Amino acid sequence: MNNQIIGDCILAPMAGITGYPFRKIALKYGASFCFTEMVSAIGYVKNDKTTLELTYSGSYTANTGIQIFGSDPYIMGLAAKKAVQSGFKAIDINFGCPAKKVIKTGAGSAALKDLDKFKAIIAEVKNNIGNDNLLTIKLRSGFDENSKNYLESCKIAENEGVDSIFFHPRTRAQMFSGKADHSLTALLKKNIAIPVYATGDIFDIYSAKNIKESTAADGIMFARGAIGKPWIFQNFINFSEINSQLNNLDKLVELFEEMLTFYGEKRAANLIKPHLYNFLTGFDNAKIFRLEVNNARNYCDIINVFNNIKNI
Ligand SMILES: Cc1cc2nc3c(=O)[nH]c(=O)nc-3n(C[C@H](O)[C@H](O)[C@H](O)COP(=O)(O)O)c2cc1C
Repeated sequence: MNNQIIGDCILAPMAGITGYPFRKIALKYGASFCFTEMVSAIGYVKNDKTTLELTYSGSYTANTGIQIFGSDPYIMGLAAKKAVQSGFKAIDINFGCPAKKVIKTGAGSAALKDLDKFKAIIAEVKNNIGNDNLLTIKLRSGFDENSKNYLESCKIAENEGVDSIFFHPRTRAQMFSGKADHSLTALLKKNIAIPVYATGDIFDIYSAKNIKESTAADGIMFARGAIGKPWIFQNFINFSEINSQLNNLDKLVELFEEMLTFYGEKRAANLIKPHLYNFLTGFDNAKIFRLEVNNARNYCDIINVFNNIKNI
């Protein structure tokens, strides 16, 4: 499958963040492609209501990939088949999740400890989606410091027909601590022929450029760097931050409105909070505004916060 459908400036999957409203806004403001957060393959196959909400993509299935996790190759294959039948063109397998509750089922980064299982999951998914759809994997450098097997695992993935790799150069044991070691990304890129995308500590357009160039990666993913700043994609493409943070605040109001429509008032008032938190980084009165964000319960409270920030 042609990798061009995903472009080179992608919104990373993030649990609790990359629901339909945020993906829609990120695509509007420059993301070349986006992914749903990780969803359980079994939940998806069984039409679990929450899972179906997480994967809802409206008319954006052509530029949205679904990310699935699970440890049973057969179920992963069924989920991938269903995703393709539902219109998704890209299926990503999560081999990176470090959470205990996922690991203990053998899914996420646990598969990095069992490369036979890793291979079997990829083979089954590939078998179910054929060559007309994109198969990607997202993984960490290894399970822990003593088992950094990313070169071996990615070689297996390449041989099994994976089209692209999203690489987060931290081990599972590191969780989100320390720094992402992108010298590993550069080494991976030299060792395999399929496209490699960098993820990890890409917080602004400068780190994005620096990591993309220094690793020769085919593209980058914005994750935490896009929370509260969905226009970061556009800024990266233009390589300019000419619009100040405050000038972009209306785009967060727009996100809030999308959330209201999709989730209803109470959930929207909570789900906008991490965005406002991040947006406020660097502002003089961030502490005071964040307290207001914390205390907000409904539509009016959130709109008040937006107005107060606008009047800085
Ligand atoms: C709140 C949150 C949720 C995440 N959920 C997922 C997920 O569902 N699937 C996944 O592959 N990675 C997930 N990640 C990892 C990100 O996609 C990304 O690879 C990681 O945050 C490193 O990039 P960054 O340092 O630029 O944020 C999550 C990260 C965060 C912060």
